[in-house]
Amino acid sequence: MFEQLHTPEDIFSFKLGSALSMEHDVEKILADLEEHAQRPELKTMFREQAAVTRQQAANIEQSFALLGEKVDDSPSPVTKGLAAEGKAAIRKTDDAIVDAVILAGALEAAHYQIAVYEVLVTNAHARGAADVAALLGQNLAQEEAAKDAIKAVATRISTEGIAYHPTSTPGAAHTAPAAVADPTAAR
Ligand SMILES: [Fe+2]
Repeated sequence: MFEQLHTPEDIFSFKLGSALSMEHDVEKILADLEEHAQRPELKTMFREQAAVTRQQAANIEQSFALLGEKVDDSPSPVTKGLAAEGKAAIRKTDDAIVDAVILAGALEAAHYQIAVYEVLVTNAHARGAADVAALLGQNLAQEEAAKDAIKAVATRISTEGIAYHPTSTPGAAHTAPAAVADPTAAR
């Protein structure tokens, strides 16, 4: 890891290493979200996003190789914070409505990653590393697709009713509060 950053190339490599730490953190976050999500469709989405995350980490490692540099291990405190915040929110939320908290955490993580890759792609172009910019551009497009998918589910759930009670579970006769379940109620 760098002690001091002296050049734009140093900054780029430091931020690229931080993005790798970010993706390793996000893989753990996604596993946690998959474990605690109630709706099967969310578990599937997070499992698929974890597979994409591993590919993104590989793209970053390949970017270091293309630059002829060894993989940097810069820290990523933001994703450590997102992980801690998500765990705390999940712990204090009832299972029936925890999907809303989980989707909020996933959306926040997606937006942070979009910002990280926007900067990296811009700076990869600036240093004339078109091949690296293309690889990181793939990651950016995947983050934007993930953000859109998470937002679509969050929007649908917020209107159809956040509470979830699997029909096969005893006690499934519980229904969501009318104010939440009725999409017209909030208008
Ligand atoms: Fe990612």
